[in-house]
Amino acid sequence: MAKLAHAQWSSKMGFVLAAAGSAVGLGNIWRFSYMTGESGGAAFVLVYLACVTLVGLPILVAEWMIGRRGQKNPINTMAELAASHGRSRAWASIGISGVLAAFLILSFYSVIGGWSLNYTLGSVIGTFSGQDADAVGALFSDLLGNPTTLLIWHTAFMVLVVGIVARGVTKGLEAASRILMPALVVLLLILVGYGVASGYFGEALTFMFSPDWGALDGGVVLAAMGQAFFTLSLGMGIMMAYGSYLGEDVNLISTARTVIILDTAIALLAGLAIFPIVFANGLSASEGPGLIFITLPLAFGNMAGGTILGLMFFLLLTFAALTSAISLLEPVVETLEERTSLSRIGATLVSAIAVWVLGVAALLSFNVWSEVLFFGLNIFDFLDTFTSKILLPLTGLGAIVFYAFCLDKEEARKELRLDIYDFTLWNLLAKYVAPLGVIVVFLTGLI
Ligand code: PHE
Repeated sequence: MAKLAHAQWSSKMGFVLAAAGSAVGLGNIWRFSYMTGESGGAAFVLVYLACVTLVGLPILVAEWMIGRRGQKNPINTMAELAASHGRSRAWASIGISGVLAAFLILSFYSVIGGWSLNYTLGSVIGTFSGQDADAVGALFSDLLGNPTTLLIWHTAFMVLVVGIVARGVTKGLEAASRILMPALVVLLLILVGYGVASGYFGEALTFMFSPDWGALDGGVVLAAMGQAFFTLSLGMGIMMAYGSYLGEDVNLISTARTVIILDTAIALLAGLAIFPIVFANGLSASEGPGLIFITLPLAFGNMAGGTILGLMFFLLLTFAALTSAISLLEPVVETLEERTSLSRIGATLVSAIAVWVLGVAALLSFNVWSEVLFFGLNIFDFLDTFTSKILLPLTGLGAIVFYAFCLDKEEARKELRLDIYDFTLWNLLAKYVAPLGVIVVFLTGLI
């Protein structure tokens, strides 16, 4: 296959921004904090940190490397690389399950992106000013109970995503994240400061970092691994697709390290911002998906300058959600475009409409369809659980196994710029620790 069949990132920075734009999103702030709260805190956080390092890093590097070699959409990349290495074309199924996962995730991601948009507006009009915990909680329950409002905001979010993808301005958005991502970090730091001032920071620290290992079970470990995949955008072919635009000059391991550190730091800051507010107001950490939408408005509604800070925060959160959502739509669109006769615009519209319809089912599960259950889970929980705990780990496992056992070792060593000694260590991680880790977690989590 001709290399460099399509364009490359203009610079390393452009690539880091795009990868970080995909990684940093609702997963870091909304999902990380609610999963941490729901899973009992520190044990979850520590397992998540271990998963990010021991499993996330090698899989991220493997996905990029495969993408850089394949230069195509994830399905064709896997099929062709497998064929050229004398392996079965069945490896393409990794690409297929990745694209499927991206499609499923975007459907509910857009619903939450809609919440973030709604809260941006709420901040502008001062809905949260001076409200107490009960009032803020009631506002959130009202939102969940109102399918029309949820539908409007879910639709608005999807329209934004499609508008950006169709107009091809994703690069501009990535450039903007150069300013907006640090701004998000600054706002999180302000919130952490607010948490320190609340007097409950110590409790939050204990909750997040002092584990009660007794509370650790297979379910928590699987949830933590799922979170690691979700937050790093792994197991979806997304990083693979990005890798296909990657120049030979980019050092994969150090770039992966940068992206992971940034992504993890933002998640931890979000936790340190949110849990003091939870404890200071006697709220429940295991509130579920509404956690940040109850705690943060409460803080913004009661702090000096809260209106403007709240507005900025939800705007930035929406922005981070948009850059991630675009990266979720991309593999679906790319696949449709390359495998059907649809044009770019046609493929974008068809994918977006399909995602939107599934998103409607997800948002109805918060109200009129709350009793519609799959395997005991409502539609929203089912989509989230099935993707993060099953599809992503299995796809990621496929990618790392393919890297470790099908690609040429010496070539990989040169590509990773490692000496023999470091490469042995790296291989230990990539060949044994990561795949076995995924398998063990997966099996214990399911039993
Ligand atoms: N990583 C993104 C986040 O944390 C979500 C995402 C998942 C984006 C998968 C792309 C692919 O919000």
